[in-house]
Amino acid sequence: MLVLGIETTCDETAAAVVERSDDGRGRILSNIVLSQVSEHAAYGGVVPEIAARAHVEALDYVVASAMAESKQSFDTIDGVAAAAGPGLIGGVIVGLTTAKAIALVKEKPLLAVNHLEAHALTARLTDGTPFPYCLFLASGGHTQILAVRGVGDYVRLGTTVDDAIGEAFDKTAKLLGLPYPGGPQVEQEALQGDAQRFALPRPMIGKANADFSLSGLKTALRLEAEKIAPINDQDVRDLCASFQQAVIDVIADRLRNGLRMFREQYGSPTALVAAGGVAANGAVRNVLDRLAFEGGTVLVAPPPELCTDNGAMIAWAGAERLALGLTDPLDTAPLARWPLAPYGAATSEQR
Ligand code: KG4
Ligand code: ZN
Repeated sequence: MLVLGIETTCDETAAAVVERSDDGRGRILSNIVLSQVSEHAAYGGVVPEIAARAHVEALDYVVASAMAESKQSFDTIDGVAAAAGPGLIGGVIVGLTTAKAIALVKEKPLLAVNHLEAHALTARLTDGTPFPYCLFLASGGHTQILAVRGVGDYVRLGTTVDDAIGEAFDKTAKLLGLPYPGGPQVEQEALQGDAQRFALPRPMIGKANADFSLSGLKTALRLEAEKIAPINDQDVRDLCASFQQAVIDVIADRLRNGLRMFREQYGSPTALVAAGGVAANGAVRNVLDRLAFEGGTVLVAPPPELCTDNGAMIAWAGAERLALGLTDPLDTAPLARWPLAPYGAATSEQR
């Protein structure tokens, strides 16, 4: 089965055609991602109105490119998927409306995909990972540890009580005068920095739950930077390295708990799966690898270009849903907020 997928929830205009065979294997026929980074760079972050307008201008071209590269046509595909949320509502409306128009005219089923579900299912496209697995999803807007038990069957084991991890990377970069988007910049600077130089806090470490808190870390970093102002290039590298190490220590502690909670509730996971833009970070991947090994499982980390936002993950999630007959009506509403899962395994005492 062939599905066209459209992603417009943030600052990437993306479309892809993905094939899902009857045995559940996936193949990417095309995957076009047009980043809006240059349009937002001057503002140090994503400007929702600029994003929505840029999606309007680019989407027809991006969809046409994805179709052409896949050597398919709207007649030969089996369904049209779009991310229907969560995300910046202007962009979500653009993508979902375009998918609806194609579905209506070509009489194809519509798949209104949850963007987080698409991140969650990517490992099945790339690695065919069987359920149930433990997902660590860390992006600019989300930080969650999930039990992924089946398509549409997700239990949240932990989340952030304030900033997302990617957001913390982005804010750190901005504070240190590094260009947007900050995650890759901080990682680059950290490579030549001293992670021991600044004693930053490790928020939440030692708590029995699997939740995160990042805003205190960001504040502590700002205070350290102010103490030594004006900062030079090596100070920036050392601050980045110290920040990244603190985040990694927090991830290790929180995920150890998350994996334990998973095992208590659902038995051994088939894998620890990484998803979201932060999973493109090499140091984060290393610690995830170690945690998976310690926990007696394996790490499945899709290639970086499939960890950040893309159309293939939307098309794949659409295909997984279509295979189960989970199609959506043409009046499906776009959603700015759309939680993937209720809180699950943790007891009130743990949180
Ligand atoms: O999943 P994604 O592409 O978009 C969202 O849905 O948010 O994730 C983007 C986030 C940004 O906050 C970006 O700074 C972060 O992922 N990110 C990274 C790295 N690459 C992207 N964070 C740390 N290290 C990286 N190498
Ligand atoms: Zn995302």
